[in-house]
Order: sequence, then C-alpha cells, then structure tokens
Amino acid sequence: MSFTTKIVSTGVFFLFIFLSGFWLSRTGKPYSGLIFNIHKLIGLAAGVFLIVTVVQVHKTMPFRPVQIAALTTSMLIFVALVAAGGLQSIEATGGLANASQSVRNSIALVHKVFPYLAVLSTAVTLYLLLGRE
Ligand code: HEM
Repeated sequence: MSFTTKIVSTGVFFLFIFLSGFWLSRTGKPYSGLIFNIHKLIGLAAGVFLIVTVVQVHKTMPFRPVQIAALTTSMLIFVALVAAGGLQSIEATGGLANASQSVRNSIALVHKVFPYLAVLSTAVTLYLLLGRE
C-alpha cells in the first residue's frame, strides 16, 4: 500500500470515528447499541490497521528511538481512549456507582480531549515512519 493510500485510509478511519463519536454523544445515555458498536468497531479497526502498518514498516527497517517514542505515545493514547470509552459505557448502564463524580468527570474528559491528541500523535508517527518512502 502506498504512502498516500495509508494516509488517506487513516484519515477516513479518523473521520468515521469522530462522526460516530459525536453522534453517540448527541444521542446521549443510554447509548444506542448500534451507534456504540459502530463507533467501537471502527476505533478497533483503525487500531488494527495502524498496527499492521507499523509491522510492515518494521520489516523494511529498524526503528530509530524517535520513531519508537512517537509510536509508544500513540499506542498509549489509543489504549487510554479504549479504556475511557469502555468505562463511559459501563457508567452509562449504572456501573461505577461507587466512583466519585470527579472520577467520572475525568473519564469523560479523557475521551473528549484524547481523540485530538490521537490525531496529532498518529500524524506525527506516520510522518516519522512513512516519510522516507
Ligand atoms: C474502541 C473503544 C471506544 C469506545 C468503547 C468508545 C466509546 C465512546 C462513548 C461511550 C462516547 C460517548 C461519550 C459521551 O457521552 O460524551 C464516545 C465519544 C467519542 N469518541 Fe469514543 N470510544 C472508543 C474509541 C474511540 C477512539 C479510538 C477515538 C478517537 C481516535 C474516539 C473518539 C471519540 C469522539 C471524538 C467522541 C465524541 C466526544 C465529544 O463529544 O466531544 N473514540 N466514545
């Protein structure tokens, strides 16, 4: 897959994750199972697509420390998003009843801010990994 195809595919993944995420927020709690699953599955598919890309690139060259740093940052942001999203859905069905309001607010805040960090960090990571092709 060419550099441009990778970038465009990643952009399309992010576009649909954001659209389904805003849709999910707007329809509110209890979350629609359909929209929730669409959002979750596109998020996971994007993660798998990016991991496959990383593995492919790694077969062609050893990674430099700056590439490993960017990659690790992106992966941590994705893991945090999946965790916060999962916790929000648990909270929406009455779970986390013993968690304080500030803990719940923090979880929601993570899932509001981290998507933008994910776009930024993924863009930097792809630039560093694919930029020399
Ligand atoms: C795969 C696991 C994920 C789950 C279970 C999940 C779950 C959720 C839930 C429950 C909401 C609604 C939050 C609300 O009520 O305001 C939401 C919104 C959203 N999600 Fe996710 N999400 C996941 C992954 C991601 C990823 C990987 C991204 C971005 C890279 C993302 C971006 C967004 C955005 C932009 C919103 C809208 C937030 C806003 O209103 O500002 N999600 N997600």
